[in-house]
Amino acid sequence: MSQSAQNAIYPVAAERAAAAGIDADRRADMYRRSLDTPDEFWREEAQRIDWIVPFTEVSDVSWNKDDLHIRWFADGTLNASANCIDRHLPARADDPAIIWEGDDPTVDATITYAQLHEKVCRLANGLKSVGVKKGDRVTIYMPMVPEAAYAMLACARIGAVHSVVFGGFSPDALAGRIIDCESRFVITADEGLRGSRPIPLKANVDKAVATAGIVDKVIMVKRTGGAVDWDASRDVAYEALVQAASPDCPPEPMNAEDPLFILYTSGSTGKPKGVLHTTGGYMVWASMTHEYVFDYKPGEIYWCTADVGWVTGHTYIVYGPLANGATTLMFEGVPTWPGPDRLWQVVDKHQVNTLYTAPTAIRALMREGDGPVKKHSRSSLRLLGTVGEPINPEAWNWYYNVVGDGRCPIVDTWWQTETGGALITPLPGATALKPGSATLPIFGVEPALMDAEGQRIADSGPASGNLVICRSWPGQMRTIYGDHQRFIETYFSTYPGLYFTGDGARRDEDGYWWITGRVDDVLNVSGHRLGTAEIESALVAHKDVAEAAVVGYPHDLKGQGIYCYVTLMGGRVAADEDVDQLRKWVRQEIGPVATPDLIQFAPALPKTRSGKIMRRILRKIAENEFGNLGDTSTLADPGVVDDLIENRKNR
Ligand code: WT7
Repeated sequence: MSQSAQNAIYPVAAERAAAAGIDADRRADMYRRSLDTPDEFWREEAQRIDWIVPFTEVSDVSWNKDDLHIRWFADGTLNASANCIDRHLPARADDPAIIWEGDDPTVDATITYAQLHEKVCRLANGLKSVGVKKGDRVTIYMPMVPEAAYAMLACARIGAVHSVVFGGFSPDALAGRIIDCESRFVITADEGLRGSRPIPLKANVDKAVATAGIVDKVIMVKRTGGAVDWDASRDVAYEALVQAASPDCPPEPMNAEDPLFILYTSGSTGKPKGVLHTTGGYMVWASMTHEYVFDYKPGEIYWCTADVGWVTGHTYIVYGPLANGATTLMFEGVPTWPGPDRLWQVVDKHQVNTLYTAPTAIRALMREGDGPVKKHSRSSLRLLGTVGEPINPEAWNWYYNVVGDGRCPIVDTWWQTETGGALITPLPGATALKPGSATLPIFGVEPALMDAEGQRIADSGPASGNLVICRSWPGQMRTIYGDHQRFIETYFSTYPGLYFTGDGARRDEDGYWWITGRVDDVLNVSGHRLGTAEIESALVAHKDVAEAAVVGYPHDLKGQGIYCYVTLMGGRVAADEDVDQLRKWVRQEIGPVATPDLIQFAPALPKTRSGKIMRRILRKIAENEFGNLGDTSTLADPGVVDDLIENRKNR
């Protein structure tokens, strides 16, 4: 392997390779087999899942626009909840399944596999008793409490399809997601608690339900005991529901291609898309990647700091670890409360072996200096992970040297809501690391680069381009709920026959992959994915706003910040309070994650003569790199640009 000055390489330590399930040779061999004889490879790999009726057919996939379908293990049946719980009971009934660390550092709980079984069965029966049936969509809008995991697994147990909506989304955003999948049931809590601040979840649900107008039942967990409005004809107390229900609920046999969940995510256009994952392939992918990527060994304590409202929480807090009989830590609070050493304190308290978090959190903690980290031993840690956005080498080095004391490999896992689990990632016993690189594809994954002309770039040697995946993998999303045509157009039309990721990437001389970020109009703000179109439509929904354009710009902590160009109605000149008002407005329309960082009021936006906003120019100005704006000759009114530059907000 070559080594240039800017490309530091961290080889796999010999002891690690020896102890790991997969070393470099085994990885190379498995990868080759996964591409050369995929049927055989997946037939074997799928045995990690307990099938009720074993599948005979491995895959049936066409990425052809006219007949697009993706099926894996299609004639098999299984139940995801039984795979996460029941099958571990003989051996692991008293092992901890979930360790819950509350927002308050003195509050925690341990839930064994036997207890998890009872909790999930009772809720599953409770859901049936309020009318939930196989195939029904159930919206889960919860804080990070074990009941969120119970709710997901209870749905899976009876064949209901869950749609978890992140608790930071606004009532309107929640209503939109309820309406889109025609969900008649919502599971929520009275309030969430983060950094001691209450989040009014039930009140938000009340508003969303009023807007949606289709919800029959709202099941509410009592978390804080805060005051809530109660509609006795609709609202159901979680505690009473599960108490009255039987602790025995046989898992529903599901077809491998029956939907397991919907998860909404932002795209470059239109409203959020309901990404649909099915049961068999997703479970194989979640279990396989959790085991190999984290080199998981029985008895280890594994902590992913994500929220269950995102796909990372689905695959790597709930389904992956529980399918493998692991102990998964669920954290209700925030990394910096009550002090900047909270994460490290939790690592020591629960003797965490694997920590999986996001670059934005690492950067925020790095800012606090080494002191808070060094206050705690962290000697239990053996592996670190990162996900959500490219990690800058500075943050990588701090994570590696300070948090991991130079002894824990970092798995930088590249994937998406759509992919179900990690696609490009190191395996800790097999892959030498380069800070900032997601390294190599996992089994069955065949990435490639496309050039500006839409041609596939040769598969060896250094190159940059748009990242595509050339063949299906079991964890792939199957469709956009209710809009198969949009699924085909979004992912399979840019490069016919290939899955387009929306990301740009570079492949280096060693064949390592470096993800450079989105190439579409999707922002990645603190690891949260937001469509510029969504923020723009929130802005123009304000009575004072005539027109808006939103772009990203580099932000030290968040990765990307949200930069909004706004033209007010009637050419009105903006006052100071307009900025505050619009920031509040977007928060209220979408949620705090979408709060604009910078708002620039402009008398006009740069447009082509056909009226198309020239985002390329807006991006450059937001990046404070207006020296080279490229070709502006197609602008309808070139003078607009001078005003934008003069009044730019990022300097
Ligand atoms: C987008 C997907 C994967 C779960 C969390 C985010 C970016 C994700 C990495 C990484 C560079 C990354 C990509 C991707 N991304 N992981 N390790 N290195 N970029 O899921 O909300 O669906 O976002 O996150 O741009 O397309 P998501």
